[in-house]
Amino acid sequence: MKLRKIAISTVAVLALVGCGSDNQETKADKIERATQKVDKNLLTDLQKKALNAGFQALPSSKAEQLKLADNPNNPITEAKVELGKKLYFDPRLSKSNLISCNTCHNLAIGGVDIVPAAIGHGWTENPHHLNSPTVYNAVFADKQFWDGRAKDLEEQAQGPIQAPPEMNAPKELVVSKLKSIPEYVEEFKKVFNSEITFENATQAIAAFERTLVTPSRFDKFLQGDNTALTDKEKKGLEVFIDKGCASCHTGIALGGTMQPFPAIKKYKYNDVGDFKGDKNSMVKTPTLRNILETAPYFHNGAMTDIKEAVNVMTETQLGIELKKEETENIVEFFKSLTGEKPKITYPILPAMPLNN
Ligand code: HEC
Ligand code: HEC
Repeated sequence: MKLRKIAISTVAVLALVGCGSDNQETKADKIERATQKVDKNLLTDLQKKALNAGFQALPSSKAEQLKLADNPNNPITEAKVELGKKLYFDPRLSKSNLISCNTCHNLAIGGVDIVPAAIGHGWTENPHHLNSPTVYNAVFADKQFWDGRAKDLEEQAQGPIQAPPEMNAPKELVVSKLKSIPEYVEEFKKVFNSEITFENATQAIAAFERTLVTPSRFDKFLQGDNTALTDKEKKGLEVFIDKGCASCHTGIALGGTMQPFPAIKKYKYNDVGDFKGDKNSMVKTPTLRNILETAPYFHNGAMTDIKEAVNVMTETQLGIELKKEETENIVEFFKSLTGEKPKITYPILPAMPLNN
């Protein structure tokens, strides 16, 4: 008889979203607690090996996912997420009234823009030739941006609105435009009990982004469902662990930590753009969740072929070469990381008053 799902033990179900009672708990503790619900005795060797390699499953219930993604300093509420969604899609947050967060992090196409370097205000390409990372599951990264310069999504969201090559809108302009729209004035009052400020706007956007998590078959596998992965995917997972990929691409995001890049051998597309990591040459490890939907790859978007990306990684980070079949196996494993996207209803945005 096949063991399906019964390996998930019935540890107490966590409280609902937004109670904020665990301010003392670190992010790592929180993830540890929410993802430790598996009875290890019922797992296959490969499932045990994957858990030992540090992978963590996204919890299967929506409430628990959101609890994990929540920020006690900016608690998720339904009304805040709804406002944040509007702002995420509202191009009036940009100087030109043409560019929204969704322009470069398009939720219909993997949370990215599918161009090598982001294109923003006045058709300007990112000055460092940087690729737009996905916003799906970004909440699970330790830091935000390729050089990790923002500590969380709240801080991150302040950047692109103001950045001249992106949305090019100074804080004051954003606030005055939003204040000219009566429905927004009311909605901010309802959500924040205050007038519109730039910080409130970015907090609402971040709360919305915290809901962008995508559970996949790999989570089911880690939770005990051995049939969730095909045999080929299992083979790929094994290669991924055995070769050392999981030393960086692990945890709940299969990434998200700052790591040396290139660690061992030169990066062959080093000259595309001038990005060299943070001051210690460390680069934020991208999440591999939905990796088959987020090409082009690497900070400078230098590759569109996932097999090439895997081979470049093996060379730069591990200093080894994979057999053709091993590369193919890893790519096969990546299929299991394509997650279910939250259902997002495209918002109807409040109109600007006619006499404005
Ligand atoms: C012109 C395209 C563009 C627009 C518009 C844009 N972004 Fe980005 N976004 C980027 C690029 C490029 C990066 C990486 C920049 C860097 O690392 O310096 C990025 C990084 C991010 C990250 C960090 C992800 C990670 O894995 O490190 C998040 C989150 C994000 N953007 C959210 C937003 C939000 C929210 C908005 C709207 C307020 C927005 N972006 C608008 C292009 C864009
Ligand atoms: C030492 C840490 C480390 C190891 C080991 C490692 N990676 Fe990476 N990986 C990174 C970092 C950092 C980046 C981002 C590099 C950049 O774009 O500058 C990355 C990028 C990637 C990307 C591109 C992601 C994207 O969205 O652009 C893929 C795919 C990938 N790694 C797969 C692998 C595979 C497969 C292995 C094993 C063969 C591996 N990695 C081993 C740290 C690591």
